[in-house]
Amino acid sequence: MDHLLKSLRPEAVESPESGIVAVFNYGRDREGLIPLWTGEGDLPTPAFIHKAATEGLEAGDTFYTWQRGVPKLRQALADYHERVYGKAMTSERFFITGSGMQAIQLAIQAIAGAGDEVIVPTPVWPNITSALGIMGAKPVAAEMDFSENGWSLDLQKLASSITGKTKALFINSPGNPTGWMADLDQLREILDLARKHGLWIIADEVYGRYVYNGDRAPSFYDIAEEDDRILYVNTFSKNWAMTGWRMGWISAPPELGQIIENLIQYSTSGVAGFMQRGATAALEQGESFFLEEREKARQSRDILMEALRSTGKVRFAVPQGALYLFFSVEGEKDAVKLAKRLVDEANVGLAPGEAFGLGGDGYLRACFLRDIEQVKTAAARMAECIR
Ligand SMILES: Cc1ncc(COP(=O)(O)O)c(C=O)c1O
Repeated sequence: MDHLLKSLRPEAVESPESGIVAVFNYGRDREGLIPLWTGEGDLPTPAFIHKAATEGLEAGDTFYTWQRGVPKLRQALADYHERVYGKAMTSERFFITGSGMQAIQLAIQAIAGAGDEVIVPTPVWPNITSALGIMGAKPVAAEMDFSENGWSLDLQKLASSITGKTKALFINSPGNPTGWMADLDQLREILDLARKHGLWIIADEVYGRYVYNGDRAPSFYDIAEEDDRILYVNTFSKNWAMTGWRMGWISAPPELGQIIENLIQYSTSGVAGFMQRGATAALEQGESFFLEEREKARQSRDILMEALRSTGKVRFAVPQGALYLFFSVEGEKDAVKLAKRLVDEANVGLAPGEAFGLGGDGYLRACFLRDIEQVKTAAARMAECIR
């Protein structure tokens, strides 16, 4: 069978299995297991969203559709951004993609190819670095620093990672898995650095509204001009319990319109029209659902932190945003082994930190967007096992 693999592109063959899956496969069928390993909540998509999609299906909205997204949804995105960021936005900025993951993939396709480098602060969601690798581009890790006061990004380190081959900085704030959140000054410095070196920023602001102090995270929207070299990638997955829909968006300078449209045309050729109706309902009517989910995440985060703190053996930085507690346990160096033990003894599923690249070794990631009673149970079982 070797001849089959040898005749493929090396970038495809070498792309690694997601490290999150390793523990998932170990424990997936355990009865009563509380799954905190993937980045999603426990609720299905709310009825007002799936009803809008079903109505579309019933109305025969099943034909080829607009590559960039239907005008109504793109306008709904512009209005949503205007509400959240307090800034007038044109619908011409917005492009509907088949997931946040595909938004990342298309952003990379537009910016970086074989031999190019993209700097990525780590630990980070592994799909980002793997998507770069598949394109033949090289992810260059800028390792963040941990202290119990918070994760931090050394901007000096970011600057010194720039070479003649660097095309972009990939900035995910609030960050998965660390919960790190850049403040406005840091974003300004990053933008200055990008402007100075003529680099793009891929701004992954997927968790931009999952923050636990205030209504949203500081954003490049707060400081950037419309024609700055920034591609924002985002998703419907997290805010509106739509992970299975595979829908996201890119926000880009309108001048790039035809190019992004072409990249969509030659990949998925667009997202189903009836699904776009559901997504429009999410943006137009989804605020109270989202706020309830965020409040649930805040309470669950606090419960998890309190239980783990009580063991006296766990270290973490309080996550400012996103959906994860990223922690290490005294005396436990092998996080995969520990994650498997937590499956066996606590019946709780976590993701091992080494999946998240440089700086992640020895940590575990727990997603806390889940029913509060379940998180209480999971936290108590984990604390007992760790103690
Ligand atoms: C940082 C980050 N970006 C993008 C995504 C993409 O989400 P999706 O592909 O579900 O839209 C995720 C999902 O976990 C994520 O954590």
